[in-house]
Amino acid sequence: MAGWQSNPVNLIRVSSEKNVSPITKRPAVKRNSSKPKAPRPARPSKPFENQVALVTGGSRGIGKAIALELAQKGAHVAFNYFRSEAEAKRTEVEVKALGVECLRIKAHLGEEEKIKALFSAVEKRYHKLDILVNNAASGVQRPALELESKHWDWTMSINAKAPWLCAREAARLMPSGGKIVNITSLGSHKVLPFYFSVGVSKASLEALTRYLAVELAPLGIAVNAVSAGYIETSALKYFPNKEDMLAASRETTPAKRKLAVEDVAKVVAFLCTKDAEMIRGQTIIVDGGFSLTI
Ligand SMILES: NC(=O)c1ccc[n+]([C@@H]2O[C@H](COP(=O)([O-])OP(=O)(O)OC[C@H]3O[C@@H](n4cnc5c(N)ncnc54)[C@H](OP(=O)(O)O)[C@@H]3O)[C@@H](O)[C@H]2O)c1
Repeated sequence: MAGWQSNPVNLIRVSSEKNVSPITKRPAVKRNSSKPKAPRPARPSKPFENQVALVTGGSRGIGKAIALELAQKGAHVAFNYFRSEAEAKRTEVEVKALGVECLRIKAHLGEEEKIKALFSAVEKRYHKLDILVNNAASGVQRPALELESKHWDWTMSINAKAPWLCAREAARLMPSGGKIVNITSLGSHKVLPFYFSVGVSKASLEALTRYLAVELAPLGIAVNAVSAGYIETSALKYFPNKEDMLAASRETTPAKRKLAVEDVAKVVAFLCTKDAEMIRGQTIIVDGGFSLTI
């Protein structure tokens, strides 16, 4: 009779018939007990194990989803926030719950000194950086003729200048190479209502992506961008035409479902893997096909 019995370590199948295989009922092949057991095949490691990622604007929305996706895949995650302290603290707890380290830093990306301090904090804790995601963005939702010079400067400094300054700081912490992913939007090449300043800043960010892809390639750093369709994050509440935007995307997205923050995060993560090594300077559109219809 064969049956399940417990031993101190495992449950093992044992046979009462000596030298008979409990599975085949054929005489068991005698094993040389002195022979070392073959090691079990290793559990596939997470792609970003022991890597360090910095996600700007990781406190909420798309940045938070990216932070969680990279953490899920094994990266220690540093992120900055600007105003949302409570949400940033929640994100920190959620990242740590995935079994990796998290460094939460308050930093306004419109100031070069604050950017330098952000990277100093990452350097002090981890001494390196493998992944930078330039996700944070801000802007003033006005048509071109109503926009003031200070609005232009604000938007461009956070959405275009900061990603360049962050990339410059990141390159310093990536002596063995790394990945940079910039988050952009359809307004870089489509004309959208109330989107003048942000659209122009995103066009600049996409050009920056191409330049950095070439200029940082000799350092082993791959640079790409991910462009998202409309997603209902808190960013949308500043758009007077928010309901129209969401209705358009709901009605005409060929993929027939709402775009989610996780859809963007997964593509960002893919661009940070070795499998994406030959994608350089590209802007990958993640919108379920929505932009094909507008
Ligand atoms: N939502 C969409 O439909 C959509 C579509 C296409 C592309 N995108 C792009 O995706 C990215 C994230 O968008 P989202 O919708 O997730 O935005 P969001 O919910 O408004 O989050 C923006 C993030 O950026 C941070 N941030 C804003 N201003 C900052 C500053 N001056 N310094 C430092 N951090 C700052 C915010 O920090 P605090 O919370 O602490 O202020 C927050 O973490 C942006 O690049 C956006 O252009 C969004």
